[in-house]
Amino acid sequence: MQPLKGLILSGGKGTRLRPITHTSAKQLVPVANKPVLFYAIEAMAQAGIDQVGIIIAPETGDEVRYAAGDGSRFGVRLTYILQEQPAGLAHAALTAEPFLGDSPFVMYLGDNLLQGGIEDLVVAFTEHEPDALILLTPVPDPENYGVAELSDGAVVHLVEKPSAPRTDLALVGVYMFTSCVHDAARAIEPSARGELEITDAIQRLVDDGRRVEPHIVKGWWKDTGRLDDMLAANRLVLDTIQTRLEGELIDTQLDGRVVIERGARLERSAVRGPAIIGAGARLTDCYVGPYTAVGEGCEISGAEVEHSILLAGSAVRDLGRMESSLLGRNVKVGRDRRQPRAYRFMVGDNSEIGIP
Ligand code: DAU
Repeated sequence: MQPLKGLILSGGKGTRLRPITHTSAKQLVPVANKPVLFYAIEAMAQAGIDQVGIIIAPETGDEVRYAAGDGSRFGVRLTYILQEQPAGLAHAALTAEPFLGDSPFVMYLGDNLLQGGIEDLVVAFTEHEPDALILLTPVPDPENYGVAELSDGAVVHLVEKPSAPRTDLALVGVYMFTSCVHDAARAIEPSARGELEITDAIQRLVDDGRRVEPHIVKGWWKDTGRLDDMLAANRLVLDTIQTRLEGELIDTQLDGRVVIERGARLERSAVRGPAIIGAGARLTDCYVGPYTAVGEGCEISGAEVEHSILLAGSAVRDLGRMESSLLGRNVKVGRDRRQPRAYRFMVGDNSEIGIP
């Protein structure tokens, strides 16, 4: 088999993570203070794939390009491929055809996180030489995913987000293909949601008698498209961190595994891990609880924050306890002492606020 190339899908619209994705690509939302997308690039590098294409959208492409650069810091070469419209995952694969040529490739959805990387899968793909290799995992809500039906261990039927799923086996957003997937993608029609579905292209391979090898995922997998999934992914990754202290601690107590990045300053505070405090953050008279990722340059004072993600530059001041929250960049949340006493908001479209 020729060497594998990589294709990471970082286009699309990110409607389910609005308002965060009004101003930012959903693949750049950080999990444990690292953009989701970077986990995919690292997985490629670890599996020895050095030519990686990244699908980008016109609105968020520049930001993705700026964040990931030429790939040298990951040990890969990145090529950016513009997809003018979010016309589906199979459309993205077709858009990348000039880059992929007739090479076999790993396609990785840029908002997916897969524990344990892809090395074993790449080995299985190159050794067994199927036409495609797909990953499956049982989920409680299969209607939100592509769903597969197996018979005697072989893939017989695939449906994208069926209203009445026949199994609970979801398609994970990491696929391996030979170049025959391009013809399959050309042969299918757009789905009800108007997209060329990769699920339909794989069904086409099955119908054409191609060999589609299913693998059941052993570790955890997360599609970070929604807030709850994002928080879950953050928990899973934070569960794997090791203590590292590079910031400054004054009268501050740390429990459990905690990362304090360079330039962060914590005063009269308590942090209970697993948690990560980003570079240059300022924490004063506060408590940060388990499963919290505080981004670069954030400020927390007189407040308790737990099980949350704060993007760079955000601030939480004089608040009671904040939980299970995702704050975008430069968001300010705090008590307002002006009269008359009232809630005062300035929030973007599609924001969500919960008041006890
Ligand atoms: O996460 C796994 C699921 O991913 C699979 O079970 C489904 O079969 C598959 O269709 C896909 O479903 P989603 O509805 O979650 O896909 P989403 O629209 O979120 O797009 C996945 C990634 O691909 C995301 O990072 C955006 C990017 N994308 C999406 C489209 C539609 C593109 O780069 N171009 C596109 O045209």
